[in-house]
Amino acid sequence: MGLKLKLIVAASENLGIGKNGELPWRLKKEMAYFSRMTKTTKDPTKKNIVIMGRKTWESIPEQFRPLPGRINFILSRSNLDLQQYQDTFGFKSFETALDALSWGSFESVWVIGGYSVYKEALSSPYFDKLYLTKLHTSFECDTFLPTLPENLKEIREPEVPEELQEEDGLQYSYHVYEKA
Ligand SMILES: NC(=O)c1ccc[n+]([C@@H]2O[C@H](COP(=O)([O-])OP(=O)(O)OC[C@H]3O[C@@H](n4cnc5c(N)ncnc54)[C@H](OP(=O)(O)O)[C@@H]3O)[C@@H](O)[C@H]2O)c1
Repeated sequence: MGLKLKLIVAASENLGIGKNGELPWRLKKEMAYFSRMTKTTKDPTKKNIVIMGRKTWESIPEQFRPLPGRINFILSRSNLDLQQYQDTFGFKSFETALDALSWGSFESVWVIGGYSVYKEALSSPYFDKLYLTKLHTSFECDTFLPTLPENLKEIREPEVPEELQEEDGLQYSYHVYEKA
């Protein structure tokens, strides 16, 4: 399978990603970057898939679920009732979610968290690239980025801004890494 998994995550200086089931910060432009990166396809007839854990799904306010313009894959070991949501599918394991990718046509697969889903994706043979937003400030968090593989090398991509970002007095920067 020519499957390539892209991970996208924003982490604080102390490598935190979440607090009390939510993002510890509010960064509108960073959220817009996340939406643009995960939604954009080269082929306008195709959609991207976003894979997330049940808690990340629940962290999205009800009125914004499912993430629009993308096919939402939710991982949970229990039976989730997702019937009311369009383009949304539940899976009992990471493997069954990846198996389902052979069902149909999509462009890219984005892993969007949280901790254990990132961890599984980073150790998967299909892991391709990590899109990491580094916040240049520490936050109190209860969920953190898993340990990253050692063989990552930073690359540049035209769609990822290189310049330092600033929003509400918080500085952050966008980075892309791939397996060396
Ligand atoms: N900063 C960022 O970029 C970012 C991105 C995403 C999330 N977050 C934050 O991270 C927090 C949520 O992350 P989290 O790590 O606590 O939870 P999570 O990974 O979103 O969800 C964990 C749940 O997902 C299910 N799950 C995970 N791996 C599975 C597998 N292999 N097979 C079947 N089910 C699986 C299980 O659900 P069941 O318990 O139902 O079995 C598990 O309890 C929130 O605070 C959120 O805001 C931050």
